[in-house]
Amino acid sequence: MGIFHLYSRALDLLGTDRRLGWVLAFANLALACALFAEPILFGRVIDALSRTPSADASVTWNAVWPLLLLWIGFGLFTITCSTTVALFSDRLAHRRRHAVLTTYVEHVLHLPLAQQSKTHSGRLMKIMLQGTDTLWWLWLSFFREHLAAIVSLIILIPVALYINWRLALVLIVLCLVFGFLTHFILRKTQVLQQQIEGHHSDLAALTADTLSNISLVQSFARIQAEMQSLQRISQRVLGAQFPVLSWWAVVTVLTRSATTISILCIIVLGVWLYTESLITIGEIVTFVAFAGLIIARLDQVVAFANKLGGDAPRLYEFFAVLDTAPDIKDRPDAIDPGRCTGLVEFHGVCFSYHAPHRAVDDLSFAIKPGQTIALVGASGAGKSTALSLLYRAFDPQSGHITIDGIDIRQFQLTALRRNIGVVFQEPLLFNRSIADNLRIGSPEASDEALREACARAQALDFIEHQPDGFNTIIGERGRTLSGGERQRLSIARVLLKDAPILILDEATSALDTPTEASVLTALEAVTHSRSTLVIAHRLSTIRQADQILVMDAGKVIESGSFEALYQQNGRFTEIMQQQYGLMPSVK
Ligand SMILES: Nc1ncnc2c1ncn2[C@@H]1O[C@H](COP(=O)(O)OP(=O)(O)OP(=O)(O)O)[C@@H](O)[C@H]1O
Ligand SMILES: [Mg+2]
Repeated sequence: MGIFHLYSRALDLLGTDRRLGWVLAFANLALACALFAEPILFGRVIDALSRTPSADASVTWNAVWPLLLLWIGFGLFTITCSTTVALFSDRLAHRRRHAVLTTYVEHVLHLPLAQQSKTHSGRLMKIMLQGTDTLWWLWLSFFREHLAAIVSLIILIPVALYINWRLALVLIVLCLVFGFLTHFILRKTQVLQQQIEGHHSDLAALTADTLSNISLVQSFARIQAEMQSLQRISQRVLGAQFPVLSWWAVVTVLTRSATTISILCIIVLGVWLYTESLITIGEIVTFVAFAGLIIARLDQVVAFANKLGGDAPRLYEFFAVLDTAPDIKDRPDAIDPGRCTGLVEFHGVCFSYHAPHRAVDDLSFAIKPGQTIALVGASGAGKSTALSLLYRAFDPQSGHITIDGIDIRQFQLTALRRNIGVVFQEPLLFNRSIADNLRIGSPEASDEALREACARAQALDFIEHQPDGFNTIIGERGRTLSGGERQRLSIARVLLKDAPILILDEATSALDTPTEASVLTALEAVTHSRSTLVIAHRLSTIRQADQILVMDAGKVIESGSFEALYQQNGRFTEIMQQQYGLMPSVK
């Protein structure tokens, strides 16, 4: 994507405000045109003064008055236009920045986990903040300066040629020098600028990663080491940044010199033309003022190119995220079948994070409404992955999953996920109040319903001991709660959601035995009327299941009821004996 394409994409993001944007741009243009009048009027006043005899005041004033009135008129017009542009362009740019920021966050939230996990959230945050800042600046400067500066240059040159073509040639050469230098430096620094931005993103990702693992950093005495990593990236940023700064310093020196030389040339040439009677003093004054205007515009364009050259990689990163099409999205004919009965079927499902290694390999099973199926197996066997396919965190590469006989890819994503309640292996909580965390799946739930769900999940006691009860803010990822408390909140949250299909991934692993027993009794009452998929190492949970699948390296190697499996004396018996020291008589 070239700079111009980038610019046009940024302007496209103005969306519904595009029309107001163009109105402002044209107002600004009118403003820029009005400014040309000043040097012309100034020259005319000087010529009028030099033509009229100084002794006759009334003749002099008669010649000058109309010009001064015209000047006042242009002045008032300029003030009105610039106030309008300043007021509205600021509002417009701020409004659009927030609209684009919302679009970005919504887009990122729609990206499936497989795409999310490639990028650190700190990096995504940095791309969002810097991208929207750059867009804000680009819109604002487009309406306030850039369009007017570029169009002024296009208009000023023919006007200068009209006033005096010989002097205008000097200005044209100056424009060419500025244009060539800017283009040259932009090309020279493009790769370096991209490297700088890449390092800045690494810096954001590292900082966010370090800050979100602060207890790990402190307990492993890693502060010094983390700082060294940070400094290494900073060194890389500076290593790429300094040559860019040097190149732009060269441009500044060269453009300043070219400007001084051009002004000197105009004055020398002007004096010579005056001695040859080819120009009036007024025309020389007009021309020098014109040269001043053109040089100011050229300076603006170079400063803008410098800034855009530096910021372009931020916009490339920003657009790259916005252009990432979600792999998992609603089909155009996606349906919302309402509340499902809960008949879940996996048909030869295969999934790999990294081919050719399969995390889930040819998985087939069925759960009738109200039944419970348990997945057991060694760590890394693919249990969590298999169940995450049901709520489409990922899509299988082959095979398919149906709910009530409908392929889950035909569901609207929200309709599918509304039907599934998940207690994740790692309790995921927001840095919000306990009540807000509980209500994320059922925003309308009453306080009474909240208390009831918490009582069933054995969470009411500890919530009531919190300083603000249900209104207590529980810190990033629920950091102010214990592991077991976090787990009980996740269970209460899913009970409140009341979905017909439940996924419990090690839902009670952090609870002590008596608490787990109470939670399991509560869960039993709930799972009775729901299709439940449970991953558990605890014997108590597995025993209740209608069917148990034993997984190993992504495959189901044994399946059946607890008793039948235990009788087989295979992998399941081995796991049970290793974990619980069970003897065959246990059954
Ligand atoms: N987001 C991911 N990207 C790449 N590989 C992954 C990802 N998540 C899991 N894996 C890999 O897939 C395999 C299965 O992981 P999974 O989490 O499904 O195992 P599990 O049976 O739930 O294990 P545990 O009992 O420890 O929770 C593992 O080898 C793991 O390293
Ligand atoms: Mg797991």
